[in-house]
Amino acid sequence: MIITRGIMTRVHNPPKDLVPPHVQKLVPYKPGKPPAELQKELGIEEFINLASNENSLGPPQTVLAAIQEASQRIHRYPEVGGLKLRQALAERYNVKLENVAIGSGSESILANTIRAFLHGDDEVITADGTFIGFYVLVNAQGIKLHKIPLKNYRFDLDAIANAINERTKVVYLCNPNNPTGTIFDREEFETFMNRVPEHVLVILDEAYYEFTKGDQDFPNSMQYRLDNVLTLRTFSKAYGMAGVRVGYGLGHEMLIDYINRIKLPFEPSVMAQAAAYAALQDKEYMDRTLENNQVGMEYLEKNLDRLGIKRVNSWANFILIELGSEEKVASTNDALLRKGIAIRPLTAFGLATCMRITVGIPQENEKLVAALEEIFAN
Ligand SMILES: Cc1ncc(COP(=O)(O)O)c(C=O)c1O
Repeated sequence: MIITRGIMTRVHNPPKDLVPPHVQKLVPYKPGKPPAELQKELGIEEFINLASNENSLGPPQTVLAAIQEASQRIHRYPEVGGLKLRQALAERYNVKLENVAIGSGSESILANTIRAFLHGDDEVITADGTFIGFYVLVNAQGIKLHKIPLKNYRFDLDAIANAINERTKVVYLCNPNNPTGTIFDREEFETFMNRVPEHVLVILDEAYYEFTKGDQDFPNSMQYRLDNVLTLRTFSKAYGMAGVRVGYGLGHEMLIDYINRIKLPFEPSVMAQAAAYAALQDKEYMDRTLENNQVGMEYLEKNLDRLGIKRVNSWANFILIELGSEEKVASTNDALLRKGIAIRPLTAFGLATCMRITVGIPQENEKLVAALEEIFAN
């Protein structure tokens, strides 16, 4: 940077040893081209984004109204305890206020959990083939991360339990798993928890929990009383609020207390807290979301099968397809983008031969299937 105005000028690169070694090793995030730019470059009229597991129904109207109302108060800081939203969540889950943390997205709570509980020689275990945000956060703290391969696209809880040692402090599980959409069931979870020593904190990321719709096989963490489990959920997916940034954590009051000590005091924002409070009451939007997801998922499953594209059964709002080679992933991705459709190649998740499709609204799903049909016919 060259400063050309001012009393003092100093022109040099900041010293490299300013950056700790574990931060030097971080690979910069490479975002895809923004849809608007691609749209212009390729002359596409309408761009369909099925790449980020967002809710394609658009924002809930009740939330828009709540944001409008809360905007009258943006000259004020949010109330530090986030009490109204936390109380509503506590009531929803039949726990105490002290068992609820809120943050700017569940990823913020994940970051604060890592900062609160991990240091030095502590070690972390998770799967190779789960939410990359977790890898980034752990690596950013310079904490040793063990990644256990998925088994048939699912968390291998046996292998994870076998890998726990005296330095293991945290195990991260994602259920349903992003990007595979698979779950581990109640029996697998209970067997696993019986093997996890008390000194290990299990982070159970249930960002897609709503889409499991009370499936009897799904181990809803809030139906257990496990004090070494921290549950993470979010308003970004089923609630249609990814851009607002609100998530929450549910767990033992000691865990929540330390997470709250680490967290930035004023997150989430005034508008985000009001939006999440309104979203919690909006049953109609949630019902519509789950209905759209079920119809869309069935449609995609049927058509992927018809086209002979290998897929993995999903409990979430996305579906993983296996294309057999990295080249096929690259060419399919390119061809879809040229048709104005974005889905997610999964190299960064450790699944280089796979792609992930978010369930859209019917017309988006139909356009995707038509595009795949054309691409795979050639
Ligand atoms: C498994 C999982 N956890 C956490 C997140 C982050 O969600 P949030 O928007 O609440 O930060 C995502 C987002 O894609 C996710 O897939």
